[in-house]
Amino acid sequence: MKDNVVVIDHPLIQHKLSIMRNRGTASGKFRHLLKEISLLMGYEATRDLPTTYRSIETPMEAMDAPVLSGKKMCLFSVLRAGDGLLSGLLELVPSARVGHIGLYRDPKTLEAVEYFFKAPKQLNERLCLVVDPMLATGHSASAAIQKVKDHGGKHIRFICLLASPEGLQTLADQHPDVKVYTACIDRACNDKGYILPGIGDAGDRLFGTS
Ligand code: URA
Repeated sequence: MKDNVVVIDHPLIQHKLSIMRNRGTASGKFRHLLKEISLLMGYEATRDLPTTYRSIETPMEAMDAPVLSGKKMCLFSVLRAGDGLLSGLLELVPSARVGHIGLYRDPKTLEAVEYFFKAPKQLNERLCLVVDPMLATGHSASAAIQKVKDHGGKHIRFICLLASPEGLQTLADQHPDVKVYTACIDRACNDKGYILPGIGDAGDRLFGTS
């Protein structure tokens, strides 16, 4: 296992993922499961956030209570499947800002082509969590992370549901500073850039398109 990869191998996540993998699982259920998994993954991916103490009064007495300190957060959804992870993470950290990165894969070269980018200011002061359920060839993830860096992002993590060994290698080579959180490392990518055994097209399955 590479140093920059964390596999969140939890029975609840694996169970929900198996239901998602099943081709018969309908879009609504698929979306709901991905959101539940994002809450569980978000819990792990934020485990080391620093805290500080703030004086408060409970109805019983005064106390110094731990609260989040340090960097504010920015969540980056890689459109459109990233939105499937975004809503749960935003519920966990409602104060996070949100950026969007629109990329599509050129079907011939499998290279990422950008069509949209919108980000909040002062990314250098924020912890940036870039989210996309599928880390397949790694081209889109790498391009998305590069975009965040180009706009000043310095502390970046990448969260995906499934990763392929190829995608992990691409990120390790091109962005060794970025820690990757995934629920599972699948066998491989096929020649069309789909993960095997995978879940199919995450965007189509989330939104009922094809
Ligand atoms: N994107 C998807 O939606 N599915 C894959 O398997 C790979 C990339």
